[in-house]
Amino acid sequence: MVRREAAVPRAPYNTTPVFAASAEGASIDDVDGNRYLDFAGGIGCLNIGHRAPRVTAAIQEQLAKHLHLCFAVTPYEGYIAVAEKLNALAPGNFAKKTILLNTGAEAVENAVKIARAYTKRPAIICFEDAFHGRTMMAMSLTSKAHPYKAGFEPFASDVYRIPFAYSYRSESGTTTEMFAHHLENAFKRSVAAESVAAVIAEPVLGEGGFVVPPRDYFKAIQAICRKHGILFIADEVQSGFARTGKWFASEHFGIEPDMITMAKSLGGGMPIAAVTGRAEVMDAPGVGGLGGTYCGHPLSCAAALAAIETIEKDGLLTRSTAVGKHFETRARAWQKKWPLVGDIRGLGGMCAIELVRNAQTREPAESETKQIAEYCYKHGLITITAGTFNNVIRILVPLVVSDEQLDEGLDVIEAALASVAEQKQAALSHA
Ligand SMILES: Cc1ncc(COP(=O)(O)O)c(C=O)c1O
Repeated sequence: MVRREAAVPRAPYNTTPVFAASAEGASIDDVDGNRYLDFAGGIGCLNIGHRAPRVTAAIQEQLAKHLHLCFAVTPYEGYIAVAEKLNALAPGNFAKKTILLNTGAEAVENAVKIARAYTKRPAIICFEDAFHGRTMMAMSLTSKAHPYKAGFEPFASDVYRIPFAYSYRSESGTTTEMFAHHLENAFKRSVAAESVAAVIAEPVLGEGGFVVPPRDYFKAIQAICRKHGILFIADEVQSGFARTGKWFASEHFGIEPDMITMAKSLGGGMPIAAVTGRAEVMDAPGVGGLGGTYCGHPLSCAAALAAIETIEKDGLLTRSTAVGKHFETRARAWQKKWPLVGDIRGLGGMCAIELVRNAQTREPAESETKQIAEYCYKHGLITITAGTFNNVIRILVPLVVSDEQLDEGLDVIEAALASVAEQKQAALSHA
């Protein structure tokens, strides 16, 4: 850590001071010989687990053939095979095309470029509590000021933001219609509908705290988009590839996005991202208008095909649903015991608890959440927090986790909650 602090700037934050030596399935061994259960999965990149056997075999096989060529110079089959697979998997019974990129932020940047090229309109509407990445356009679309935006102004122009359907932090009784109405309002208050190229949304907020909107919400949003010739982009960078019990969270909401951005678990541990969308939309930018040197790297393509095969053959969609159900059962018991557990939510294995100081006022329990994450890693469990108010513990455990490992990890969270709740109680009686 001393060497890290001397050699690396402070901005790329480490959530735990654990230096990894090796990893397998749902666990990580550190350089001191400690074993950790991994409930973070490299922030949702390891739905199929660390070093999934099909992925490591596919990488080795590709290593013997060729590494970087640049798809723009000398194309290769792996890129096309990934595109074909994603075109088939993405929801929507229409012709689709896919471009490959390196990271989630890059996928978002490209989706915006494509939407503008297709509609010939400038504006993009995004949501409060959204996270779309750290590059200039993606950061402009991201919601949370600290640490993602402060000091990095000015942002990209033509970005407009509306509230998300965050029921727990909205007035009780707010209906889907009322939530969706924010979009219609924006056309009056902020930007003319005919200037809007696209609305971009995470079907389940990731960094924003695993917020799941009502099931009919995105149908309402997409209907408004269609009425005004606006494209709907689903950012499934975190929610895709079995995380929610389906290939894409969009499927839970019965929508067919015009474009979907993907990354993270698509690569099974290798960097790769994609935008999949309606063929006519994807073909709008001119020849040479999109791309990048390393986009769709051969090793990443091999890994992605193997990751997709693993999800298909190892039943990880069903497993994700089971992980989510088990989490919910355990978390409901925590909520009964400790008012600190304000909200329990999730979709399949994308699940979380939101912690509050007071069940009525719902004051975010930020420092307590930090204490819980710290307790967890000190007791062998790597977790990460989320939420605009830094008060959410999110579960991104590799779906290959065994039932025993899952309970072992949940036991640590339970003990952490008990410890923090007891400390609060003790502080109260001292006062
Ligand atoms: C929904 C969403 N979009 C985009 C990104 C950015 O992805 P990357 O970090 O690969 O650039 C993230 C990363 O957490 C994300 O969760």
